[in-house]
Amino acid sequence: MSHHHIFKQGNPDKPILLLLHGTGGDEKDLLFLGELIDPEASILSVRGNVSEGGMNRFFRRLAEGVFDEADLDFRTKELVTFLDETAKEYGFNRQNIVAIGYSNGANIAGSMIYSFKDTVKGAILHHPMVPFRNRELPDLHNVPVFIGAGTNDPMCAPAESIELKTTLEGAGSDVSIYWGNAGHSLTNEEVTAAKAWYNKNF
Ligand code: MLT
Repeated sequence: MSHHHIFKQGNPDKPILLLLHGTGGDEKDLLFLGELIDPEASILSVRGNVSEGGMNRFFRRLAEGVFDEADLDFRTKELVTFLDETAKEYGFNRQNIVAIGYSNGANIAGSMIYSFKDTVKGAILHHPMVPFRNRELPDLHNVPVFIGAGTNDPMCAPAESIELKTTLEGAGSDVSIYWGNAGHSLTNEEVTAAKAWYNKNF
């Protein structure tokens, strides 16, 4: 297996929640979030394969907020291959994955959605950035996305959240955006909004 991870089998009729942590986190970080969003769902929580001074990440960056796009492409393919293999190993439905990412984890989830058709069936992106620019996206008509954004987020300016929403919508995705009067951190209000969106969509 190419990634450290935790898999917990849940109700097979429910989605598999793919949990992707932020910079410096690990596969245990977002277990609480998966439980909150859908306590009956299966959980696949993954640790990023890149170390930045000992902090786990899902891909390299050149500076804060500046992605190493070649590495992001490579790591995105690596994660998609991991999902293909893991679905076979654990016997879950590969078509039934909903990604939930925070910050760096939201960014690799966004990159998966930008790069591969039907690799997830929806996504909750907490404080994401635009993963790539000038890239043709696959058809996203069946891939709804929730974006949790902060009006004072120093990592992702509101204009970037709006650009992400507009680009995803341009490919057909039904995008909901939640604006918190907050910075880059995840608030209870944002999680409540994400849960309501999940219950409506899945
Ligand atoms: C990233 O590199 O993915 C973003 O800057 C967010 C983060 O620091 O995790």
